[in-house]
Amino acid sequence: MLHVLNHPLITHKLAIMRDQNTSTKDFRQNLDEIAGLMAYEVTRDLPTKSVTVTTPIRECVTEQISKDVVLVPILRAGLGMVNGILNLIPTAKVGHVGLYRDEETLLPHEYFAKYPKNLEDAVVMVVDPMLATGGSADAAITLVKSRGAKQIKLVCLVGVPEGVRLIEKNHPDVDIYLAALDEKLNEVGYIVPGLGDAGDRIFGTK
Ligand code: PRP
Ligand code: URA
Repeated sequence: MLHVLNHPLITHKLAIMRDQNTSTKDFRQNLDEIAGLMAYEVTRDLPTKSVTVTTPIRECVTEQISKDVVLVPILRAGLGMVNGILNLIPTAKVGHVGLYRDEETLLPHEYFAKYPKNLEDAVVMVVDPMLATGGSADAAITLVKSRGAKQIKLVCLVGVPEGVRLIEKNHPDVDIYLAALDEKLNEVGYIVPGLGDAGDRIFGTK
């Protein structure tokens, strides 16, 4: 299912990120802040279990999260969302999948993968700012599924209908969360209006 998190704080910060004149520092900071705001919504349905706690006043039965959370950023740009989410879920473990998109074919190529052990029992959040053709997210989800992941959420900043359709077709079991659903891809596979090359803008490589 697709969730587009229309929220004034998220839209405001995303407008700063979209601006071509925004510095690397401000781009990174706003991505970090949006990732944290998105985490609040994305974790809304995490399972909980009853626990007994003794307050200074008396004993009470309350709830705590019952599943481990594993973040899997797609390198490089996904790294820019990790700290913002970890601020809210400090106990989460972090796996990494390295994928780059061939500029001609737009197909993803894997160059790195390292995951924590407990993927089968965890809620796995695959994170990447951009969902363009969907090829990278599709490949990352397939990889974590092959390592046993069963409950997967895809968390991206900006997506387009093409990418959403690919994930919905190949992974109907995966919930997709976007801060914004943009219009389309251009002829070289960039999101329109989008925010340009997320990895280059986070790391200042262009
Ligand atoms: C970007 C982005 C996604 C991918 C999206 O990464 O961060 O991973 O493109 O495009 P897709 O949906 O068409 O696959 P890129 O390959 O540019 O690598 P980078 O993060 O290292 O810059
Ligand atoms: N990857 C990016 O970083 N930006 C886009 O617009 C598309 C893919």
